[in-house]
Amino acid sequence: MKKAKLILNDKEYEFPIIEGSESEKAIDITSLRNSTGHITLDPGYGNTGSCISDITFIDGEEGILRYRGYPIESLSKNALFSDVAYLLIYGKLNEDASDNITRDDFKKLIRKNANIHEDMKRFFDGFPLSAHPMAILSSMVTALSGFSPDPDATNLNSIDQNIAKLLARVKTIAAYSYRKSHGLPFIYPDINLSYVDNFLHMMFSDSQEEYHKNPIMTDALNLLLILHADHEQNCSTSTVRMAGSSHANLYATISSGISALWGPRHGGANQAVIEMLQMISNDGGDYKKYIDLAKDKTSDFRLMGFGHRVYKNYDPRASVIKKAAEKVLDALKLDDPLLDIARNLEEIALNDDYFVNRKLYPNVDFYSGIIYRAMGIPTNMFTVMFALGRLPGWLAHWREMILDPKSRINRPRQIYTGNTLKG
Ligand code: CMC
Repeated sequence: MKKAKLILNDKEYEFPIIEGSESEKAIDITSLRNSTGHITLDPGYGNTGSCISDITFIDGEEGILRYRGYPIESLSKNALFSDVAYLLIYGKLNEDASDNITRDDFKKLIRKNANIHEDMKRFFDGFPLSAHPMAILSSMVTALSGFSPDPDATNLNSIDQNIAKLLARVKTIAAYSYRKSHGLPFIYPDINLSYVDNFLHMMFSDSQEEYHKNPIMTDALNLLLILHADHEQNCSTSTVRMAGSSHANLYATISSGISALWGPRHGGANQAVIEMLQMISNDGGDYKKYIDLAKDKTSDFRLMGFGHRVYKNYDPRASVIKKAAEKVLDALKLDDPLLDIARNLEEIALNDDYFVNRKLYPNVDFYSGIIYRAMGIPTNMFTVMFALGRLPGWLAHWREMILDPKSRINRPRQIYTGNTLKG
């Protein structure tokens, strides 16, 4: 086995090198503090591997993203979101995973469990109309734990049943938070509809008319949900693993991920991008002014939807979404002036030294809002849409962690720089 050597105070220590299946390398410092009395310091965790995982591979230099080995370009073109959810959680696409729930059982459970408890509907009335749908979503997901037995983390059947129930119900809560904020009656889920159509039905059906499928909307949403479905140890997924490591119940754990996602440096960026594009448009469309502002170190302004901790190349999700946005606008015969502003910003940024030197490219959030807008989804729902897409990823990571006999409570350390003993 390869080893790394550390020389500290003239003493030599050895640590094993771990290698992943795609040749990524890590120095395993599990024994570091015990053997040396030192810890590592890595603010923002840019150099820290928090776990070993089989779920998602990213090569940020090359712009590669694969779920369980499948490139997201082919999944987003050919798969259904519910199949991708099964793939992420159980590791198999279009076939049954051997040790547990079949694909068929999984899909049936999702269809059958889409209703939330009738009493939960009253909770929506407690929120003011101005409440952000992410506030409603995270509260309601925590509230689900009051209506479901605490998943037994030692029982595989209980884990899998609760995973399917959560997948089924989060989309209902998401749709109801939209209906509530628009003063519209709740629409019950329809067991005959696919995951994506059922969500669109609960969002947009008229309570007095039959639901009419629109394949443009279905395909666009299926693609967006797949592209958001997992992204290894991002901020919200790490939050899920952190909260879940204390064995908090699954609903509370996922709610913590939803809260982490909300921030504008993470999933909240999709809302922030459209607000930024709208601001530029309202300001006469002078996008160059905003490029300069993003470069100005005395200003807090950042080009939203640009940059990524891992991608130092074009985010592969952004390439797919950009093309899809053009296709959807074409198919719906819509012309969105914000798309032109986005394209212009991108073109300038990709040729500007500031962005080139820092390897800042459009990320997943740069063009997604253009599609959501075309679908009639309001801006403050965009991060909820991200949460809906990311849910299978959170669940896959939670399940992987909870079933790993070696997993421990996550508990980083610190270097204390405060007062020494006083008084
Ligand atoms: N506009 C202008 N400058 C930027 C931007 C940006 N969008 N992003 C990074 N920079 C600069 C930053 O100021 C810093 O410059 P310097 O080296 O001169 O101090 C350098 O680039 C490195 O930035 P960082 O903040 O150290 O990078 P990070 O890896 O900690 O942050 C990020 C990554 C995504 C939070 C950041 O790029 C950002 O704030 N982007 C805008 C928000 C956004 O689009 N977030 C969505 C991310 S993708 C989806 C998701 O994760 O949910």
